[in-house]
Amino acid sequence: KDIVHYTTLPSTQTKANQLAQEGCSHGTVVIADKQETGRGRMNRKWYSNNDAGIWLSIVLRPKVVPNQAPQFTLLVAIAIAELIEEELELTPSLKWPNDVLINHKKVAGILTEMQGEQDQINYMVVGIGLNVNHQQDMFESEIQQLASSFKIEAGKTFSKIELIQSLLQRLEQAYQDYFINGFSSVKNKWERYGYLINQEVTYTNANQKKQGIIKGIQSDGALLIETKMKQIEPIYSAEINW
Ligand code: BTN
Repeated sequence: KDIVHYTTLPSTQTKANQLAQEGCSHGTVVIADKQETGRGRMNRKWYSNNDAGIWLSIVLRPKVVPNQAPQFTLLVAIAIAELIEEELELTPSLKWPNDVLINHKKVAGILTEMQGEQDQINYMVVGIGLNVNHQQDMFESEIQQLASSFKIEAGKTFSKIELIQSLLQRLEQAYQDYFINGFSSVKNKWERYGYLINQEVTYTNANQKKQGIIKGIQSDGALLIETKMKQIEPIYSAEINW
């Protein structure tokens, strides 16, 4: 598989999109030591102008329909959770759709973007940011209280190369399993790590703030919320707060 490495990029996500448009092969990985303008979900900044973290994007060309794409975010989240469990000996939790937390603080984020038609994805770019060897004071003040790193949580420094190798192996395995066994094993694993399951949360979707109880995920990757009216509603896009 092709792995391209840069010391500095504006964003691996932008680079991977560009390579995908130029026709790069399925599985191409773009890694940068530092990103000048890392991006997060909802047009947020992703602070990554340092080489303490792992910043990479993967180009995938799966034969799936666009509404299956969110499942890949969850699949990647599980691979990261399993990596953490094995390498840090800590149990992470997954905050739907794309946050990986340890002790309620975010240590990793996933950004899934895609290009395609109604019935067929042309390509997908899955961006992964892992806060690995950060000290607490390396995080910007806005995220000081919310962010953490592998090092802070596990109390030791990690080899980024080893983590990248292990992560890519896990992702390849998870990707193959998905096409053999479907989403059901992803769903079960996700619910094992799921954050705030059976707890009341506030969720903002289509500019409406609502309250409900997280029940798990549906077989297509949507979050299941029990509403005030005791109805189970699938949520495809929302911000969850508690
Ligand atoms: C989020 O939590 O909002 C998603 C964060 C995704 C960050 C990664 S770092 C590698 C890739 N390049 C980017 O610019 N963003 C993603």
